[in-house]
Amino acid sequence: LVNIRDLFRSKDEYLDTTVTIGGWVRSLRNSKNFGFIVVNDGTFFEPVQVVFSNVLENFEEVEKLNVGAAIIVTGKLVATPEMKQPFEIQAEKIEVEGASTPDYPLQKKKHSFEYLRTISHLRPRTNTFEAVFRVRSLIAYAIHKFFQERDFVYVHTPLITGSDCEGAGEMFQVTTMDLANVPKNPDGTVDYTKDFFNKPTNLTVSGQLNGETYAMAFKNIYTFGPTFRAENSNTTRHAAEFWMIEPEIAFADLEDDMILAESMLKYIIRYVLENAPEEMAFFNNFIDKGLLDRLNNVVNSDFARVTYTEAIEILEKHNDKFEYKVSWGADLQTEHERYLTEEIYKRPVFVTDYPKEIKAFYMKMNEDGKTVAAVDCLVPGIGEIIGGSQREDDYDKLLARINELGLREEDYEFYLDLRKYGSARHAGFGLGFERCVMYLTGMSNIRDVIPFPRTVNNCEL
Ligand code: 4AD
Ligand code: MG
Repeated sequence: LVNIRDLFRSKDEYLDTTVTIGGWVRSLRNSKNFGFIVVNDGTFFEPVQVVFSNVLENFEEVEKLNVGAAIIVTGKLVATPEMKQPFEIQAEKIEVEGASTPDYPLQKKKHSFEYLRTISHLRPRTNTFEAVFRVRSLIAYAIHKFFQERDFVYVHTPLITGSDCEGAGEMFQVTTMDLANVPKNPDGTVDYTKDFFNKPTNLTVSGQLNGETYAMAFKNIYTFGPTFRAENSNTTRHAAEFWMIEPEIAFADLEDDMILAESMLKYIIRYVLENAPEEMAFFNNFIDKGLLDRLNNVVNSDFARVTYTEAIEILEKHNDKFEYKVSWGADLQTEHERYLTEEIYKRPVFVTDYPKEIKAFYMKMNEDGKTVAAVDCLVPGIGEIIGGSQREDDYDKLLARINELGLREEDYEFYLDLRKYGSARHAGFGLGFERCVMYLTGMSNIRDVIPFPRTVNNCEL
């Protein structure tokens, strides 16, 4: 079988030869003695039209095919200069690998994204989702390529942990205990010695703490894996299971962190523009009109930078436009983030130096004693896409912060050790992979950029 991608990419080689393709019927039109089948095999964004006639020995079977059927077509590839498609296949043989039924849920009409979410096992066979998931795959590759070219070591951090990296208490517990009959201590508390790990455990919210330990050995590392958050946020940008990329760099500060983040995002955008031109043109035409212009501007200009304190001063002037009014100390909501990046800067912006109260325990304290060396990268259409910081590298300050926040010191002993044995300045960030896919495709709901989304009240398939 030849991939449809190769027919398009090496057209001259295949024209006027006999080719065999395998794919799924997108649409079918019949006349009395001939018909047309549009076939897509998932290797290329464009499908191929197959023309068949009653010279086929199984003409009647082919004529009755339903949309969705899997077929193998052999025939001559002929140029069709007068048509939109550059060529078609004149079928000499069509084998039906697997028929389909008339109730196939994907018919030629346009289906809403809401409906397609209810058939997430079939939606990759539609144009939009074929484009989304091919681009998602390319972005993942581009990210690995970016870091590997710079000699970063890819570290697999554990998915089951005993710690809460972000300290937000938004974790899914992992247990083998019978929830209907939980073993208890005499004082009524849960007896975790009866549990699998002999202690409370959960799915990780971030690989960062483990990642830092490897940065203190390899200097530059990155993680790329699933993370889990039991956030009760039913929004278009929150998922309970999402993928995160977390580089960690040693002998580096917040400035180095921002330079890395900016060059990574620009690299990914360039890679996708170059390697998925058909998909990107489709998104630009049908999903988000200004997408290509916007992305081209991003790679050709510098990201804006503003401190949290400056950002609050700017936003306070526009408080009449917000549902949540801002003032110093408040966490930025999506509406504020989007206002900054869409209305004020009109490009990606780094916001730095947040109040320590609204950020995680591990961030390096600034000299003012009030803010930490944190950075969020905000982009139009989404808001926060990256969250990062320089890490507290001082043993005493870190321990004090752990105690101040009432975290269990024994859970962080390994982490404190790093500040005891050759502590080095270091920084890192987390890129939300799905938000990155949304940003590059213009898709506006996180449920539509992850194959099988898990969100509040939804764990289908
Ligand atoms: O800002 P966050 O919580 O940062 C961390 O987890 C750090 N440990 C990262 C680091 O410094 N190594 O999350 C990082 C990014 C966010 O900017 C966002 O893009 C994404 O992860 N994210 C989510 N994406 C989808 N659904 C959710 N529920 C998300 N929560 C965070
Ligand atoms: Mg964050």
